[in-house]
Amino acid sequence: MARVALVTGGSRGIGEAISKKLKSEGYEVAATYAGNDEAASKFTEATGIKTYKWNVADYDSSKAGIEQVEADLGPIDIVVANAGITRDAPFHKMTPEMWHQVIDTNLTGVFNTVHPIWPGMRERKFGRIIVISSINGQKGQFAQVNYAATKAGDLGIVKSLAQEGARAGITANAVCPGYIATEMVMAVPEKVRESIISQIPAGRLGEPEEIARCVAFLASDDAGFINGSTISANGAQFFV
Ligand code: CAA
Ligand code: NAP
Repeated sequence: MARVALVTGGSRGIGEAISKKLKSEGYEVAATYAGNDEAASKFTEATGIKTYKWNVADYDSSKAGIEQVEADLGPIDIVVANAGITRDAPFHKMTPEMWHQVIDTNLTGVFNTVHPIWPGMRERKFGRIIVISSINGQKGQFAQVNYAATKAGDLGIVKSLAQEGARAGITANAVCPGYIATEMVMAVPEKVRESIISQIPAGRLGEPEEIARCVAFLASDDAGFINGSTISANGAQFFV
């Protein structure tokens, strides 16, 4: 039977590429989204991948949504915690609301996604947890105190889960993309974006598919001894 993969924020951007790649590798895929119904239905129409709508920042909604996915497709074997947002501002302009929105979605959202799935993975003695962190969690970023904190936090999550899950056949790893051509990056003012691209030795933004291939590898049986690691895919912009 095909393994079941859940991709949060799997209807657009990097998540869309991950959902498609996992489907092409033979997984049964469920993709979640927050509110963009139009993008989600276009995605399902084009790919045949079922979408589910819930806010990853809300524990009860995540738990109920995950129960629905498991009722529809079977136990989740692979979880890709990809859903994320930015609320950028220099620190002196960052409001508590901007801080909390990003923490609740990008960091607590990972807890809310993995926690309800974890007991089943432990029982079944198999699981793959892949968290989409960021280059900016590794190096920090002007105007992203909130976002960088969440993405650095993701690395703490996977390193800790890796130690807890290893004996139960569960791996937990992160992918740290550099700047990738999605709506998130296109929302950065054009001049700032051009200056960012000029700092990428590869001379270009990454493509969502380049991240999806990293995820597919981490999900595979070949990656069974890779646990607590981070794959950086950033066009040589930053080395850890
Ligand atoms: N480094 C140092 N100084 C900087 C700077 C930087 N990167 N960016 C701006 N500044 C300076 C400006 O030059 C300006 O200086 P002066 O006051 O001396 O003129 C000062 O900071 C304030 O700048 P602004 O008035 O333009 O600030 P603002 O309130 O209008 O905010 C901004 C603008 C939100 C910072 C905008 O420049 C921006 O969006 N920057 C991009 C931030 C970024 O990289 N976000 C990543 C989004 S994509 C993503 O997050 C995906 C991922 O994981 C990679
Ligand atoms: P994107 O194009 O903006 O897509 C974001 C996806 O996440 C959408 O499907 C969105 O749903 C969903 N989402 C957002 N908030 C949610 C919430 N509260 N609950 C459920 N789903 C939610 O973003 P992206 O660029 O593909 O980024 C995906 C991930 O990669 C994020 O974690 C981001 O931080 C990380 N990342 C991105 C880059 C980059 O350069 N793009 C680099 C490094 C890391 P809707 O469609 O309903 O809005």
